Amino acid sequence: MDSLVITGGRPLKGRIRISGAKNAALPLMCAALLSEEPLRLANVPDLADIQTMSRLLMALGVTVNKEKVASAHTLTVNAKTLDEVVAPYELVRKMRASILVLGPLLARCGVGKISLPGGCAIGNRPINLHLTGFEAMGAKITLEEGYVEAKAPRGGLKGAEIKFPSVSVGATENLIMAASLAKGRTVLKNAAREPEIADLAVCLNAMGANITGAGSAEVTIEGVASLGGANHPVMPDRIETGSYAIAALITGGTLTLEGARADLLGDVLPAFEKTGGTIEEVEGGLLVHNGQGRPKPLTITTQPFPGFATDMQAQFMALLALGRGISEITETIFENRYMHVPELRRMGADIEVVGSKATIRGVDHLIGAPVMATDLRASMCLVLAALAAEGETTLSRVYHLDRGYEHLETKLGQVGAAIERVVAKG
Ligand code: UD1
Repeated sequence: MDSLVITGGRPLKGRIRISGAKNAALPLMCAALLSEEPLRLANVPDLADIQTMSRLLMALGVTVNKEKVASAHTLTVNAKTLDEVVAPYELVRKMRASILVLGPLLARCGVGKISLPGGCAIGNRPINLHLTGFEAMGAKITLEEGYVEAKAPRGGLKGAEIKFPSVSVGATENLIMAASLAKGRTVLKNAAREPEIADLAVCLNAMGANITGAGSAEVTIEGVASLGGANHPVMPDRIETGSYAIAALITGGTLTLEGARADLLGDVLPAFEKTGGTIEEVEGGLLVHNGQGRPKPLTITTQPFPGFATDMQAQFMALLALGRGISEITETIFENRYMHVPELRRMGADIEVVGSKATIRGVDHLIGAPVMATDLRASMCLVLAALAAEGETTLSRVYHLDRGYEHLETKLGQVGAAIERVVAKG
């Protein structure tokens, strides 16, 4: 397994191009299953999760063509022939977002079967909200030998009014896709409002769907008989943006994040400002700098968008570990999302976790150490801590980072970080 060796203490300066959003690209790729015509997606990041989704789609009989266009990739997903409706365990276990093929398969083929998903080890992540939504549209769900099968009624899925008991990004996306080809109107209430959902709806509407309200808590989908192809650029990655903004702040540097958008950051934006960081909108992106030295302490509670993103919690903890006082973080979205804490402690951080609440007593420096990545965002937290720490940090299990951060060591190296990948032998 590869590792990263990082020598900390260098202020980062320069420009980083923000990639297309992984969490937007994955559902967009699944949307292609709804049409016999090709969907051309521009600005797709080159990531392990995208390759896993490509393999999953190919296992269903879909063709996926990748071309390099400037510094990004364009994927053309063509689901003209769909000759398989089973998403196998070997692929699904690698990535929880695989569940997003189920809604489109059910809508287009009347049946879909998927192994129960895997993904990051951040607590129990059920799929009940997806399944009860499909049931409300008339589907029959059966569970057998680790696989979930969903079958549409004769005549296809029917529009329904579905009120989610709690907010789920994936369930909102899956149901929007399924409802696009259902008979009649579907109204989703208490829907997730993440910008990736609005991006998905823009693409589906370009394919001929009739969706209004995506990005708000109530989404209305008027089903149509069929969808066509489209060209769609994937939105910029707001979590990558936030992560590199912290890289600037934690190292006392200045970074221009090309292609980044402040309007995608929700409550993460004011949180940066409260720590003393400055984020300015400049032409073509965001300029991030830290004129204040150690960050001011913060109290953060993770919430669905536009609240503070759970996917930025670990990275903020690295910053606050060096804060000028006591910070508090409460994680409300996922249980078991503090796996970075013991690793940060090994670097000298003073953090105590009780239930869902972490208390972070800022220290004036962190010290490099051998640490282990445990999930995607926890890994980035450790990279950020290492960039600020005195001495050398070796981060193992880098494959977690490869799932979600495109060309991480190249991007950080170009702005002055001392970061090197050690490729495992054999
Ligand atoms: C998506 C993001 C992930 C992010 C998360 C929350 C993608 C590919 N991934 O994940 O990076 O951390 O949103 O912003 O976009 N839940 C249920 N039943 C369900 C579905 C979810 O109880 O059927 C629970 C989950 O266990 C979790 C919460 O709802 O506690 C939110 O999960 P959800 O919004 O569905 O996350 P994902 O779509 O999996």
